Amino acid sequence: MSTSYSLRYPEEIKFGSGASANIAEVLPPEGPVLLVTGRSALSNGLAERFKKLLASHEIIDATGMSSPEPTLECVDAIIETGRAGNAKIVVAVGGGSCIDATKAAAAIIPESPAKTADFFNGERSVVKRGLFLAALPTTAGTGAEITSNAVLTESALKIKKSIRSPFMVPDTAIIDPELTISSPPGVTAASGMDAFTQALESFTSSNANSVTRPLAETSMVKIFANIAAATADGSDLNARTEMAEGSMLSAMSFSQSGLGAVHGLAHPIGSLLKLPHGKVCAILLPVVMKWNKTVCELEYARIADACGVSKGADGMIEAIRNLNAELGVPDELRSSGLDDKHFDFIIKNCRSRSMSGNPRPMSDDDVEELIASLIRPLV
Ligand SMILES: [Fe+2]
Repeated sequence: MSTSYSLRYPEEIKFGSGASANIAEVLPPEGPVLLVTGRSALSNGLAERFKKLLASHEIIDATGMSSPEPTLECVDAIIETGRAGNAKIVVAVGGGSCIDATKAAAAIIPESPAKTADFFNGERSVVKRGLFLAALPTTAGTGAEITSNAVLTESALKIKKSIRSPFMVPDTAIIDPELTISSPPGVTAASGMDAFTQALESFTSSNANSVTRPLAETSMVKIFANIAAATADGSDLNARTEMAEGSMLSAMSFSQSGLGAVHGLAHPIGSLLKLPHGKVCAILLPVVMKWNKTVCELEYARIADACGVSKGADGMIEAIRNLNAELGVPDELRSSGLDDKHFDFIIKNCRSRSMSGNPRPMSDDDVEELIASLIRPLV
């Protein structure tokens, strides 16, 4: 058996408070810049701030064009705006959804007249680098600024999956914890639990290696210690900085190792129930950990030790349940609309790369039993 080490990160990562102020210096000197944000950047001042910071370039305005859990139509609209303005550089300022939508757009814009569906449906692949892309996260969550995939949703069929290519890793990531201060408590909690889940699933993945485990462990320690503080007081810059670094390390780890059953299940459940990805991950995490425990007891005990939690693996699962409760995350999906009639769809659509990396193989019957417990808690 061989171990695979594949370290593909942005060529340049700038991390630290205030790092985004120098964005113009890291971009190629010439060419129109397609500036993409989500809607919240229009009201919290970030869109205007970045227009000023990019004044040395011509700006093609796609601020407000990205949407949460982006659809193929959302990406197509960004692509059309970029092509119409002859964009040469792309800048994404936003959460994981915005960065994913922009990442796909930067790859597809030069492939005119191709549309997002051509790549999503597998008719085409991203086989070369697209436009120069700088990614600036405004949440500490998915780590999309580091990774090579873009999670998109086909709205009619409710299919959520990735377009993936080594050529889609952003050229530059600027991780400025000050940009996350405007992130509201619900988003901070959900995206932070996504980053924690990614680190934990990376740590226990069947493809984990001696590079990924320390990255994942440090990530979990930082996020576990700071997520409640960052959620309770968004202006706590120390907590925001620890969360931002934890999220970056999580992505550096899972982009090599892959994930596990939480992410395998979170995509079909999230697209069915229209729930934020991080919230679904947080709800699923302790349930999947309990199921995986028979093969991961030592790893969970080591995580507990690192995070300062007593009583080993069981103590860690309980600590995550308690953390979810403190963050306002429910422990079931019944109130979000999960129903027996959804089981077939979830079973059919959960067999992703994440699922195959889960340390304990999960049969269709196992999946059904597990998701049923989120409607009818096991006693
Ligand atoms: Fe995730």
